[in-house]
Amino acid sequence: MASTREWFETVEEARRRARRHLPRSVYMSLVAGTEKGLTLRDNVAAFSELRFAPPHIAGLPSARQQATSVLGQEISLPVIASPTGVQAVHPDGELAVARATAGAGTAMGLSAFASRPVEEVAAANPKLFFQVYWSGSKDAIMQRIERARNAGAKALIVTLDWSFSNGRDWGSPAIPEKMDLRAIMRFAPEGLARPGYVRQWLQAGGLPDLTVPNMAAPGQPAPTFFGVYGEWMQTTPPSWADLAWLREQWGGPFMVKGVMRPDDARRCLDLGASAVSVSNHGGNNLDGTPASIRALPAVADAVGSQIEVLLDGGIRRGSDVVKALALGARAVMIGRAYLWGLAAGGSAGVQNVFDVLRGGIDSTLLALGRPSVGDLSPDDVIIPPDFTRGLAK
Ligand SMILES: Cc1cc2nc3c(=O)[nH]c(=O)nc-3n(C[C@H](O)[C@H](O)[C@H](O)COP(=O)(O)O)c2cc1C
Repeated sequence: MASTREWFETVEEARRRARRHLPRSVYMSLVAGTEKGLTLRDNVAAFSELRFAPPHIAGLPSARQQATSVLGQEISLPVIASPTGVQAVHPDGELAVARATAGAGTAMGLSAFASRPVEEVAAANPKLFFQVYWSGSKDAIMQRIERARNAGAKALIVTLDWSFSNGRDWGSPAIPEKMDLRAIMRFAPEGLARPGYVRQWLQAGGLPDLTVPNMAAPGQPAPTFFGVYGEWMQTTPPSWADLAWLREQWGGPFMVKGVMRPDDARRCLDLGASAVSVSNHGGNNLDGTPASIRALPAVADAVGSQIEVLLDGGIRRGSDVVKALALGARAVMIGRAYLWGLAAGGSAGVQNVFDVLRGGIDSTLLALGRPSVGDLSPDDVIIPPDFTRGLAK
């Protein structure tokens, strides 16, 4: 049992610990959010607008069931780790996330921009979904997905909601191309202010190298994050036919991440996707678009009976998960919540976040008198007028 000093009981406490532990540039690149941060804030604020139906007080279910499945994988709670590039957050990076999600009995999305090779991560959590962007030639994309398949990835996620906005009013942190002597000198003041972070990396063998091994061409060394970002910017965005091609090449369970509109969701259904995630990249796409939870009811209405509908964006507590399920999601994906847990306590910190969410889901189900996550419905939440901003139907 972890001591209460290590243990945290809210995601907000994990965030505070992450802020105290990480150098400012690293912490700010997790918080991120494009332009004014309107969508970033709305992702969280919209959950506060949703309230619950008043709790029951007797005849409540003595046990509550959270298990479900996503993309063919059984998961013990309706929460999985969303793919994120976690460069520089913790020396164990995605490996720590894989161990924690495996320990929690759930699945993990692994970004193609991750800092750890897919083979290593899949060995730590076989319930692994590999995520790609549409970047580079079709041959290069094929090589990446074949490598992930050979490593044992169970599903493919293609993320389509990134529009290369680089204007952040709060000031984008400077990310070096490489951790060379110049970069080390530049970041020295930040490092001196966070000696625990620097010690942790040095003990693990060196500072973050900021490379992306899953983007390496066969037999080539891992490219830098900036190198692949440049290639991605130059790539023509995919057509619907390109996406149908990708789905066919993959052949297995296939999720489109970043869907915010019912018409796009129907097109994903038509091209044979198994799942969509209603998402705005955690407020990192077009600023001013509504919170993903506001878009969920319309997407769930459009395709929810035919493909799996997930949601990500703004999940900070178990009751947020319940709200998303009540509005039609099968499960949710979390991003910052587990990144903060990772910074706060490595693999144990990530598992702590999943435990916090599991506990919150359980107590919410108890209060609502619902024996299982599958029993949730819109009747469990009070939805204010104009909540969906006219996006419904
Ligand atoms: C630091 C950071 C890196 C991310 N990297 C990726 C990525 O590589 N691929 C991807 O599909 N989404 C990426 N995302 C988006 C997340 O998968 C997810 O959509 C988002 O974090 C959900 O919002 P939340 O952070 O409020 O939970 C990233 C998000 C953050 C915060």
